[in-house]
Amino acid sequence: MSIKPVITVPDEILRKKSASIENVDDNVKKLAKDLLDTMYKSNGIGLAAVQIGILKRILVIDVSTKDEKKNPLCFINPKIKNFSDEKSVYEEGCLSIPDTFIEIERPKICEVEYIDINGKLKNIECDGLLSTCLQHEINHLDGKLIIDNLTKLKRDIIIKKISKNKKNPNRVIV
Ligand code: NI
Repeated sequence: MSIKPVITVPDEILRKKSASIENVDDNVKKLAKDLLDTMYKSNGIGLAAVQIGILKRILVIDVSTKDEKKNPLCFINPKIKNFSDEKSVYEEGCLSIPDTFIEIERPKICEVEYIDINGKLKNIECDGLLSTCLQHEINHLDGKLIIDNLTKLKRDIIIKKISKNKKNPNRVIV
């Protein structure tokens, strides 16, 4: 089990584009495991490799509910092939942007081509939370964050607040 620190804004690495993975070798499998361990430990439902400082196109997701069995999914080099005109809105958070939730409208259904953890090319059509989560994580691979949907002023306020909290890691609110 290997839990990595999750990188938060304004770290510039979060703005970089991740590179495609050529081979699903043991290193990639180990990375997928680290991502899942880190995601579960952080109580997230999705995590992209860039969020632990690795600029590779791989992400993990688990949208199962608390009462359900865990359902870890791993997507390598995911590409959105199609999406619906119909939209859905979720209030989204991000492990790289602590304590911030933003309502975001995205295509409700998307079709994504990806390579699975066994190196097989797959296709998935997803809807609901999985669709939104996958689109959010694919955005990470291209350096895009949910705060990009806000005005620059709002974005700056959020980043400033998070930077301040980083300098005071032991501050408590009672
Ligand atoms: Ni995120």
